[in-house]
Amino acid sequence: MKRILILGGTTEARQLAGKLAARADLEVTLSLAGRTESPVAQGVPVRAGGFGGARGLAAYLKEADTDLLIDATHPYAARISANAAEAAPQAGVPIMALRRPGWEPVEGDRWMLVDTVAGAVQALGAAPRRVFLALGRQEVAVFEAAPQHHYLIRSVDPVEPRLAVPDATYLLSRGPFREADERALLESNGIDIVVSKNSGGEATYGKIAAARVLGIEVIMIRRPSQPDVPSAETVDQLAAMVDHALEPDAERGV
Ligand SMILES: NC(=O)c1ccc[n+]([C@@H]2O[C@H](COP(=O)([O-])OP(=O)(O)OC[C@H]3O[C@@H](n4cnc5c(N)ncnc54)[C@H](OP(=O)(O)O)[C@@H]3O)[C@@H](O)[C@H]2O)c1
Repeated sequence: MKRILILGGTTEARQLAGKLAARADLEVTLSLAGRTESPVAQGVPVRAGGFGGARGLAAYLKEADTDLLIDATHPYAARISANAAEAAPQAGVPIMALRRPGWEPVEGDRWMLVDTVAGAVQALGAAPRRVFLALGRQEVAVFEAAPQHHYLIRSVDPVEPRLAVPDATYLLSRGPFREADERALLESNGIDIVVSKNSGGEATYGKIAAARVLGIEVIMIRRPSQPDVPSAETVDQLAAMVDHALEPDAERGV
């Protein structure tokens, strides 16, 4: 029996965990940061909460007798990915990452690229605009620096405290989001600019496609850099890498 720890918080992590847990020779634990108040059922054993930095994670990997660490966190969860890349060699545990590719602009897209959320605030400019923020509730407070805009803020859990701006509307919703619904949302709220992370994948692409059709600008926050570890782009590719990594040396012809 081989023990696998998957750092999750994404749809793909849940899918990968389910796929690997179905195998009789693997014992899978999925790790969540514990931020979402009622996360969707994951279907495998879950542990929640931080480990206490890279050292804490290394200690956990040793204590739990982990054979393989898989980083399947969100592309913008840079700290936990850095911790994982540092902790795995410390604990003598192999690591691999599931990295979904980012979206690429296509004809008709009006993207403005910025490096940080603060850069997105600047890019909105001085004149009042109607802005759709779909960033996650931890990051929206920075927009208090530009109170002249109207904000439509969508998050899974309530934004608490509310932003200290005169004009904001809050929407609680969990993806996936369909393009047609996103288009209706942008239109009915008179949105003229969208602020987005380049999350990749299908679940949150609807707003990008809808903005393109409506000719609306998107301020796209670039991805943070990720540590260089063996990685795959899809759940199936990563599952195949796991097979290879856990095969006995003799069967691999080593
Ligand atoms: N950032 C996003 O845009 C985004 C979007 C969708 C989902 N998520 C998910 O939300 C979670 C938190 O994201 P974040 O951007 O706040 O992370 P982060 O900034 O990279 O991590 C901050 C700290 O949270 C803890 N942590 C993060 N992910 C964890 C996990 N899967 N299991 C256990 N501890 C974890 C770690 O604490 P310790 O140092 O104490 O171990 C880490 O140092 C991640 O699981 C991520 O996959 C993030």
